[in-house]
Amino acid sequence: MRQLTLHQLKVFDAAARHLSFTRAAEELFLTQPTISMQVKQLTKAVGLPLFEQVGKRLYLTDAGKELLATSREIFEQLSLFEMKIADIKGLKQGQLRLSVITTAKYVVPRLLGPFCRRYPGIEVSLQVTNHEGVLERLTANADDLYIVSQTPTNLDVQRYAFMENPLVVLAPRDHPLVNERNISLQRIAEEPFIMREPGSGTRQTVQKLFEKHDIPIKVRLDIGSNEAIKHAIAGGLGISVLSIHTLALEGDTGPLAILDVEHFPLPRHWYAIYPSGKHLSVVAQTFFDYLQAEGREAVDLGELMKLIRH
Ligand code: PGA
Repeated sequence: MRQLTLHQLKVFDAAARHLSFTRAAEELFLTQPTISMQVKQLTKAVGLPLFEQVGKRLYLTDAGKELLATSREIFEQLSLFEMKIADIKGLKQGQLRLSVITTAKYVVPRLLGPFCRRYPGIEVSLQVTNHEGVLERLTANADDLYIVSQTPTNLDVQRYAFMENPLVVLAPRDHPLVNERNISLQRIAEEPFIMREPGSGTRQTVQKLFEKHDIPIKVRLDIGSNEAIKHAIAGGLGISVLSIHTLALEGDTGPLAILDVEHFPLPRHWYAIYPSGKHLSVVAQTFFDYLQAEGREAVDLGELMKLIRH
């Protein structure tokens, strides 16, 4: 047992979280046979199977569940140790691990610029995924801070709303509705709709709005990327609802226009969150404080809002 390595535990943790060797391999940038091999060695060291396959699905055995709990404790202890060392070294060195939803990638890098210039020794890792992906990482305690636009209801978290993140309805610039005012939701629902993928927070918000008004929408296609959706709109495949920040670089000179639809812009915020019991490292706490103090200044939201013609 004493021969098992931290690397094996890391591999096991990813396989246990995903209950899939393929997804664990993707996450760790390893091959699937490498994952199998590491799990096999670990199984040998433990002396009992860690996973069992029932039909096509993989499950953790009781031994697997025990090992998962133990390996989480080991990693938790190690990161506490890392934090203490970082405290001793101050902010000269350290890691900041962020996990953010897809819309935040239009803003967080701009916030990180001045932060990293102020603390040049800090190494940052930024994971960009959809709402569901960020919550998965939060549940697995994979990062220091998380940025979402809907805070989870089933987890106790600390949160701070650092910037507005309104949703708008986007259409091609030559769309007949572009010059209309106060378009009804009903009218919008007649257009072919391009929707973000299941698991996306944007999608959830749009679905909730239309369900609340009892209006069915015609989803023509699901696309898992804000940028690809913008191209699909420009290509005439339909209209969509996205965060206004997705227009950060093109402004009103690009091929897309914001429609004036009732209930829109739909007000939302980005929240920086972390689990309530978590001890933030000095670096993470400093970034959290920085977001509170200076987050709002990183983006000229007024300029973006000017794109909405009312
Ligand atoms: P999503 O979240 O990437 O899960 O759609 C984005 C948002 O809610 O702003």
